[in-house]
Amino acid sequence: MNIVILAAGQGKRMRSAQPKVLHCLAGKSMLSHVLETARAVGRTRAGATRIVVVIGHGADRVRARFEQEADVGFVVQEPQLGTGHAVRQAIPLLDETQPTLVLYGDVPLLREATLARLLDTATDGKHEGIGLLTVRRSEPTGYGRVVRDWHGNVLKIVEERDATEDERKITEVNTGILIAPTALLKRWLDGLSNNNAQREYYLPDVIAQAVHEGMRVAAVTAEDINETQGVNSKAELASLERIAQRRIAERLMNEGATIADPERIDVRGEMSVGADVFIDVGCVFEGRVELGAGARIGPHNVIRDCSIGAGTEVMGFCFLERATIGARARIGPFARTRPDVTLGDEVHIGNFVEVKNSSMGHGSKANHLAYVGDALVGKRVNIGAGTIVANYDGANKHQTVIEDDVHTGSNSVLVAPITVGSGATVGAGSTVAKQVPPGKLTVARARQATIEGWSRPTKKRK
Ligand code: UD1
Ligand code: CA
Repeated sequence: MNIVILAAGQGKRMRSAQPKVLHCLAGKSMLSHVLETARAVGRTRAGATRIVVVIGHGADRVRARFEQEADVGFVVQEPQLGTGHAVRQAIPLLDETQPTLVLYGDVPLLREATLARLLDTATDGKHEGIGLLTVRRSEPTGYGRVVRDWHGNVLKIVEERDATEDERKITEVNTGILIAPTALLKRWLDGLSNNNAQREYYLPDVIAQAVHEGMRVAAVTAEDINETQGVNSKAELASLERIAQRRIAERLMNEGATIADPERIDVRGEMSVGADVFIDVGCVFEGRVELGAGARIGPHNVIRDCSIGAGTEVMGFCFLERATIGARARIGPFARTRPDVTLGDEVHIGNFVEVKNSSMGHGSKANHLAYVGDALVGKRVNIGAGTIVANYDGANKHQTVIEDDVHTGSNSVLVAPITVGSGATVGAGSTVAKQVPPGKLTVARARQATIEGWSRPTKKRK
């Protein structure tokens, strides 16, 4: 089938330099949401799907963003003379033997199931007809109204500004989404006039033409008003964001997560959870996040592109980025991982600890106030409070190797590149810049001395 996505409009009310359809919902642009739905519905049909996006305002930026996606074609509508004119621009790229579904780049929450219902209703046996998606709104102002005859058959769509007083009382409105046989659609679009209040070529006018030719228009009413809701302003974007988040939260709960408050979770990417995961309030999950069974995520964490093992607990207020964390680990509160961290099972990363581009083996701990950067840390290592791995000499970064069973004393500095041999202990307050042999205590600090006969200076009399 063919799918045309309209995305040429300016979206003035967004008050943004960014094209409207590139604004994000749940971490993905509105147009990506629509493309995903389009692909999903395309897959339910035999044969290939041709997707054509009609662009205009900010065309270059929209095209640049989706250029990599081989299954998407673009056509520029310039100037923008209305929705009918927009679809007309796409016709040369369509397969006229297959029907065309029209979607909107700024209607991001439409469900595949609703479209499937529209497609089924429009198809009468083998015969492809016209299907129109409508919705009931208690406040229909601004929308095109669906005018039906006494038998309930759809006659036409009339835009707000062209409607009579009686027609304006109709609460069933046009969503804009429709499907029609392509060859007929082309002919009807060629026959459109702009003799209306807005001097535009209206796509919904094809309905009256079809009816005039004796065709039946199958109307399907969307049950969930949010699905067909377009975004025209930041406020509308924010209200759909909450709905999108609620849908994601429901899916996670179905997968077994307990969510302290489904209204206070933000997922901006792909997320999967095992059974008995617990997520406290105020967490933001970005990119690809996996939580193993029984993982517990405390309040107010930001977790981006992480895999967190079964039974691991992330306490409150952590910022974790690109980390792979094993099972039964304990992270935070107030921990920070920067990209490319691998933590084994039962690792503890405590308060005010930062780990970057490092790995830590099974059971190793950095419980308080430490920086571990560019380090390979073995198993059962204890990084003392205030330990700093000095990985940067001001020009280059170097690696530090800390072998199994090492203990570093409080406030020690390990100047890279060095290896701290297995079982070594580094005395508190040491700065070590040479190899530290295994199994021994290495101390590198001034010896403690007590000065006999010393007295404190006293204040001089004036
Ligand atoms: C349109 C429908 C109206 C329906 C409403 C639902 C028409 C004439 N009216 O009204 O019946 O109730 O949607 O939201 O279709 N676009 C283009 N090129 C253009 C004009 C618009 O690509 O030349 C795109 C816009 O970017 C937008 C969509 O089409 O995504 C709808 O355009 P908009 O101007 O918002 O239509 P409405 O007047 O709201
Ligand atoms: Ca609109």
